[in-house]
Amino acid sequence: MPEFWGDETAIARQKRLLARREKLQTMPWTATGGRLLIFVEPSADTWPSVRDWAEEDGALAFVEISRDDAAREIAVGLGDGWDFHAWDSHIGTAERILRASRKVLGSITLPDGWTAHVEANPDDAEVDEIQQLNAATGVSPNPRHALTGQVSPALNVIVRNAERELMATAWAGMIFHPDCRMGDVAYVGFVSVAEAARGHGLGKFANALVLVESQASMVWGRAVEYVDADNHASRGMVRSCGLHQQDGIVAAIAMRGGGRFTR
Ligand SMILES: CC(C)(COP(=O)(O)OP(=O)(O)OC[C@H]1O[C@@H](n2cnc3c(N)ncnc32)[C@H](O)[C@@H]1OP(=O)(O)O)[C@@H](O)C(=O)NCCC(=O)NCCS
Repeated sequence: MPEFWGDETAIARQKRLLARREKLQTMPWTATGGRLLIFVEPSADTWPSVRDWAEEDGALAFVEISRDDAAREIAVGLGDGWDFHAWDSHIGTAERILRASRKVLGSITLPDGWTAHVEANPDDAEVDEIQQLNAATGVSPNPRHALTGQVSPALNVIVRNAERELMATAWAGMIFHPDCRMGDVAYVGFVSVAEAARGHGLGKFANALVLVESQASMVWGRAVEYVDADNHASRGMVRSCGLHQQDGIVAAIAMRGGGRFTR
């Protein structure tokens, strides 16, 4: 069970993020889920505190930002040699999400012998399985400390088949500083369904379960999920759970040298 995940560069980045944890907690304009530094409130005042870390990491994420503003921030703040990929923002209020997600949960029956539960602090074997399933479905896995809620409160969905194999997972985390513009927002994602089990509502089920259960334990006011424009299954999944797309608003991940960070 790896504490960190990925190639040498990704692991070094995750270690640096963990080492910065206490400092980040004093900087409401930043956040991290464990994989990336997130710049929540870029401005002339906040850039100086983030730029060196971004250079060190070769990666920097932005959330709830227009595509144009992301392009501008990256060009002005980081300069040449950086490029970004963007994922569409889907957001919703607790009221709307709970209504839709409870309906999803009520409409899906798992096959005989299958089980589903949520885990705030998965054990090492579960962490390993979650990371493996995420990686197998093209989702860049969380490091262990993010899955187990050591950096911020987190919740994992674990759906197993009759043979006890992990077939679906999803994650929610309160990754944003309470004093920032995203303070009431849960970040939900890392939804993965084993390839053989797709298209039967399992993604919707896992996503709805993590939304409903995380709202109960973390009491968030809104939840956000970021979805690639080409990921039709994921888009259908989040819409069914009560989130709606915000036109032109994205999460953007800038990478030095370009490239795409996750699915
Ligand atoms: C995205 C993923 C989790 C969805 O899980 P799934 O079990 O295949 O999807 P579901 O059966 O729950 O379907 C969800 C919705 O998408 C629709 N859908 C499913 N597959 C689809 C496809 N290939 N194309 C278009 N729509 C699709 C379903 O009809 C449903 O919409 P509805 O509620 O309006 O009927 C799964 O495909 C997966 O693991 N993909 C790889 C990893 C990934 O992309 N994760 C998300 C990262 S943001």
